[in-house]
Order: sequence, then C-alpha cells, then structure tokens
Amino acid sequence: MNVESLKVNKQSWDEVAQRFYGRNPLPEYGPLAPREDELNLFGNVSNLKVLDIGCGSGHSLQYMSKRNAGELWGIDLSKKQIDAAKLLPENCSSTVNLFESPMEENPGIPENHFDIVYSIYALGWTTNLDKTLANIHKYLKKGGVFIFSWEHPLHSRVSNKDDVLSFAKSYHEEGPYDHEAWDKPAIMQQHRVSKYVNTLINHGFRIEKMIEDVRLTEEDVHRHANRWYSFEKAKSIPTTLIIKSQKL
Ligand SMILES: C[S@@+](CC[C@H](N)C(=O)[O-])C[C@H]1O[C@@H](n2cnc3c(N)ncnc32)[C@H](O)[C@@H]1O
Repeated sequence: MNVESLKVNKQSWDEVAQRFYGRNPLPEYGPLAPREDELNLFGNVSNLKVLDIGCGSGHSLQYMSKRNAGELWGIDLSKKQIDAAKLLPENCSSTVNLFESPMEENPGIPENHFDIVYSIYALGWTTNLDKTLANIHKYLKKGGVFIFSWEHPLHSRVSNKDDVLSFAKSYHEEGPYDHEAWDKPAIMQQHRVSKYVNTLINHGFRIEKMIEDVRLTEEDVHRHANRWYSFEKAKSIPTTLIIKSQKL
C-alpha cells in the first residue's frame, strides 16, 4: 500500500467528488461501454449480500437496492463520496453499511459473507492490486462472484489525433502514472490486461467472462465528441474492460 499516493488521491477525490456524482453508475459499466441491461452479468440479486468497492456517491448501490439486494455494503476512500452515498434515500435503510477506507485495507467488512462483490470504475485506483484482490476473495463466500469494470488498459496508451491512432506510450509499461484527463494530482495504476487476469487467477478466482465491447449509438456522436472517452476513438479502441469471475 502506498500511503503517500492514497493521501494525494483522497484529497483530490474530496475536491472533485461533486463533479462525479452519479457518473456512469450501474446499470452502466462505463462510458460508451455495454450496459448491465444487455450483459446481465449480475442476474437476479434479490436478497443477495452485495459489496461495492469504490462505491463513490452510492448510485450503483442505489441500483442494487432497487433490484432488492438483501444487504448493501460499500467502501470508498473519499469522505465526500461516502457522505453523498449516505444521503441517497435508497441507501438510508439499516441494511446499508458504508466505510470510508482505502480498498487496500479491511475496515471491518465480514469475511466469507458476500454473494457478490463488484467495482465500477474504481479498481484501477488501488495502490496494491494484489492486496485488494486478496481482500475481495476473503469477503466472498465460496462460489461468490466478483465483477469489475475499469478503463481498458489500451485506452490511455493510444491517442487519436485527426483519426490517426498512435501509441502514446508502451503497452508493456506498468505502475503508477498521472492520468492525463485529471486536472488535480491523481495517481492511478496502469496494468496490462494479463495483470488483472493473472492476479485474479493467483488469488483463487475463475474467470467467467471478459468484455471489451463498446456501445456506440447515434446520440453518442455529439455527446462524446472531443472528450477523453471519445466516440471516434471508441470506434477502434475499447474504453472499458469488464471481467466477471468467481471464487473457487
Ligand atoms: C469513478 S468513482 C466510482 C464510481 C462508483 N463506483 C459508482 O458506481 O458510482 C472512483 C471512486 O474510487 C474511489 N477511490 C479511489 N482510490 C481508492 C482507494 N484506494 N480505495 C477505495 N476507494 C478509492 C474514489 O474516491 C471514487 O469515489
């Protein structure tokens, strides 16, 4: 765990939190990515115990609540995000447990307890993927499912200028980096696809599905023009990596 990076990221997230409230939560997996309505990775969540890693403003938990999940748990580094999550009406019931904590640590989340652990666009922030996936494995019951989405490892390495794609940096390069799209100090971790897959396997997960598709509709042409996740770039490069795995 990199204490200095976590300190920097916590401060930046507390400053920008409001800008991200409800940005691409479930049923979305990310910008220009296929949605849960199409993928149905979660199936029926009625009465299931679910945990959201990097729950942000709690909008994905709200979606789980509307689908009658039995227990709702969330963890997030940012105080501002957790405070916002607590205010969502669906999250006010006694079955919602929220922790302000880095995902690299267990602040008191029960082990062998959850049917589903998921993370929507948050896992790439961890300063220790190994530790975080070890924690998630412990939280799940045997046979429990872990689903995450994160920016596709190719997306920030490839740039698109005037419809010409080129490698801005090597695909082999891994480790911490300053994300170009952030105007605040923010240290994310860059991994290759194989790093996610192999770390899951090493911790006792079975990969069930991997999704790299994009979802491009006519209305996105304008909505996503000249943005970090641009329509033009998404025609050639996936924006989002989605992996569904199961605790063996
Ligand atoms: C894009 S937001 C996630 C949105 C949320 N999952 C949703 O569905 O609405 C990324 C979140 O990761 C959180 N985060 C960043 N680093 C973290 C860490 N090391 N541990 C836990 N949460 C972290 C941020 O505070 C932020 O709320």
